[in-house]
Amino acid sequence: MEIVAPLEIEDYVIQTAEFMSPPRWHIGHTSWFFETVLQKLQPGYRTYREDFLFFFNSYYEGFGPRIERPKRGTRSRPTVAETRKYRGHIDEQMMRFIEQLSSRDDAGEIQRIIRLGLEHEMQHQELLVYDIKHLLCDQFDAPIKPAPKSVGSVSGMVEIEGGLFELGYNHTVQSPKSKVQSPNNKFAWDNEKPAHKVWLEDFSIDRAPVSVGDYLDFMNAGGYKDFRWWHSAGWEKVNTEHWQAPLYWEEHDGEWMIRDFGGLHRATDKVNEPISHVSFLEASAYAKWAGKRLPTEAEWEKAATVSVPGAIADGSLDDFPWGHSTPDKSKANLFENGLWAIAPIGAFPAGQTANGCQQMIGDVWEWTTSDYVPYPGFQSDFDEYNDKWFVGQKVLRGGSFATPQIHIRSTYRNFFYPHERWMIAGFRCAK
Ligand SMILES: [Fe+2]
Repeated sequence: MEIVAPLEIEDYVIQTAEFMSPPRWHIGHTSWFFETVLQKLQPGYRTYREDFLFFFNSYYEGFGPRIERPKRGTRSRPTVAETRKYRGHIDEQMMRFIEQLSSRDDAGEIQRIIRLGLEHEMQHQELLVYDIKHLLCDQFDAPIKPAPKSVGSVSGMVEIEGGLFELGYNHTVQSPKSKVQSPNNKFAWDNEKPAHKVWLEDFSIDRAPVSVGDYLDFMNAGGYKDFRWWHSAGWEKVNTEHWQAPLYWEEHDGEWMIRDFGGLHRATDKVNEPISHVSFLEASAYAKWAGKRLPTEAEWEKAATVSVPGAIADGSLDDFPWGHSTPDKSKANLFENGLWAIAPIGAFPAGQTANGCQQMIGDVWEWTTSDYVPYPGFQSDFDEYNDKWFVGQKVLRGGSFATPQIHIRSTYRNFFYPHERWMIAGFRCAK
């Protein structure tokens, strides 16, 4: 509700593209998610309004019919006031439900579902930031805090020794009892499990995300005009969507400008910031042009979790690039930093890996080459949540400036379609 506070009433209901949802919908949908918990688990709970179940269900076949996604912005009802009232009602019901939990035998299981509902809400908080950017961009009166400065240049690649690597979330390894437990690692999505061994060849990975300056070099070298760098699907997008630059870039009098929450900026004034709003297809084209490639998710995760180069010293992996402590404002640019923007490369040396990789957590989600498929032995924790999306999407790692601090960890797998670019996504290369 703090995120939407600067919005005017008209802003809540507009859908500017099929891929985004109006703010009113996010506000109602996240409460609808908790209402389904109450319907199932609170004896005697009475549904707030039947028509809300239709309007605020997202894609769950198991919860009945729903409005089609591209039509979420075609209705003025329920009103914003009705949606806020619904939200208040569900919050109050949930508080009562939580207060009497200790008397129930299934309290542990219910706590797990509530945590899942909160994690779901954090995902929507982040989507809300993407969607408000698409809706209003610099017209939105975001409470922007000043960005930190880079404290040193970060360049080159880190060599990482291959071998067997345990990919995925393992509670006993990621949050061993002997170490400080981060609340981030007391929960993991089903798609991060089970941890399993994979073989990695030796590889190198960039110390920093690819920058606006690097990407400008690609553009100035004719990157968008040369089919040689592109997958077929990418070249088709270049031609049919007339891609010439990342999303939110505008050409003014022959000069590339970038629009963000803070206003319109010369791209040349942002050369030391990680590139963002690029699709997997564009990231892949850049990597090929640069003589590199995108990392696999296992390579990314190994770079982010193995604190001693070449060895797992005590058999455990780090929760985060910097170790086991929960993210804070000195280590990563996440939502609580309040920048509403990407920070310059080199602004978070306290968050680097032992190998010197920086900004793996926060700033921009990073594309990997890996297909979003279940890990071997996958078991669904919640029907239709993650398990129905295991086709055609790519894995992204690390979180963005719109990700809440408590929501991210190094094993976290986000996923989007290869052509999507309204999310805050960039990349780093591997070799
Ligand atoms: Fe949702």
